[in-house]
Amino acid sequence: MDTIHTSEKFPEELKNFTPTLKVGSPGRINLIGEHTDYNNGFVMPTAIDKKIFFEFSENNTNSTCRVYSATYEAYLEFDSNNFSKSDKAWENYILGVVSEIQKKDKKIKGFDCILKSELSTGAGISSSAALECGFASGLNTLFQLDLSKIEIAQLSQKAEHNFVGNNCGIMDQFASVLSKKDHIILLDCESLQANYIPADFKNCKLLLLNTNVSHSLADSEYNTRRKECESAVSILKNTHPEINSLRDVTFEMLENEKNKLKGKSYQRSLYVLRENDRVQKATEAIKAGKLTEFGNLMYGSHEGLQYDYEVSCKELDFLVEFSKDKSYIYGSRMMGGGFGGCTINLIEADKIEEYTKEAAKAYFEEFQIKLDAIAVTPSAGTEIEYL
Ligand code: GLA
Repeated sequence: MDTIHTSEKFPEELKNFTPTLKVGSPGRINLIGEHTDYNNGFVMPTAIDKKIFFEFSENNTNSTCRVYSATYEAYLEFDSNNFSKSDKAWENYILGVVSEIQKKDKKIKGFDCILKSELSTGAGISSSAALECGFASGLNTLFQLDLSKIEIAQLSQKAEHNFVGNNCGIMDQFASVLSKKDHIILLDCESLQANYIPADFKNCKLLLLNTNVSHSLADSEYNTRRKECESAVSILKNTHPEINSLRDVTFEMLENEKNKLKGKSYQRSLYVLRENDRVQKATEAIKAGKLTEFGNLMYGSHEGLQYDYEVSCKELDFLVEFSKDKSYIYGSRMMGGGFGGCTINLIEADKIEEYTKEAAKAYFEEFQIKLDAIAVTPSAGTEIEYL
């Protein structure tokens, strides 16, 4: 992080900044289990070896908070006793975290923070969770707030709900904070029970292909999907008062009540039930080293997201389709919220270079957009270092 002080926009206020603490906060991938987290279902994420790096120090003031993003060359200063929502998205992640920490009656003082990111925004690798969780983890250590890792993930999720306005599930924050190196997490989003599975993909690697598109529908459609699922639950509850989420719904219940569900709620719910099923099967397949089986489940997940949940887009569909006749690719699917971002591909490691070139050429011919490839490794969650 030594180049940041040379930037012309580096704020005067931070010129004497001497960090005492460093935080590395990773982005995440999700192998399978999309749009299931906020339905109390199952997901299979892990952190990746790309991060947002933070440096922190106290600044001997009571409540002056100074944060500089070296990546965006943007400076934010606020009083922790008196602040409100901002019209700048990145600032709301920061302000939201401080607000949620205070709601827990935890006290912070003035601090300085500089951050720098290697995570592309809009790529579906959750730079937002990395920002919230890394920032929250830094304040937790700096001011000895005694928050557990789960609390950090949960308060970061709330910051996103309350300050950013995106009603996300817990997957991204959980993975960013609690992942283990060389493992993937089978996370039960109802109990928050995590099973760490060794990420053994034999001669294969996980490759992200970034469409470099991020359609503006993403946030509003995300919240709509959530409402469609909740609407199904509230109707199904009339006949089955014991259910609290789609997690408690069986295929049989859904079929029996099909005609009572409004709009696209049936179609959305069916996708969620099937996706939860796929995650269970995927766990068994990975544990048994059956990569073809696992890959087919990835394709099944994409199909559900494309046709039933309707959160894909033509660029993602093109890339998944393009992979299908390649014998060295086992599976491919859109990843994250959808409407752009990356596909995740399970591919034989020695074919990555050749395939990336081929896919980039075809993608450019179709959309005149550059395709970016990112090979990722399952990595540890948030890491903290005293300086
Ligand atoms: C976004 C949200 C997550 C999850 C995914 C879809 O990444 O932040 O909580 O819902 O979309 O699986």
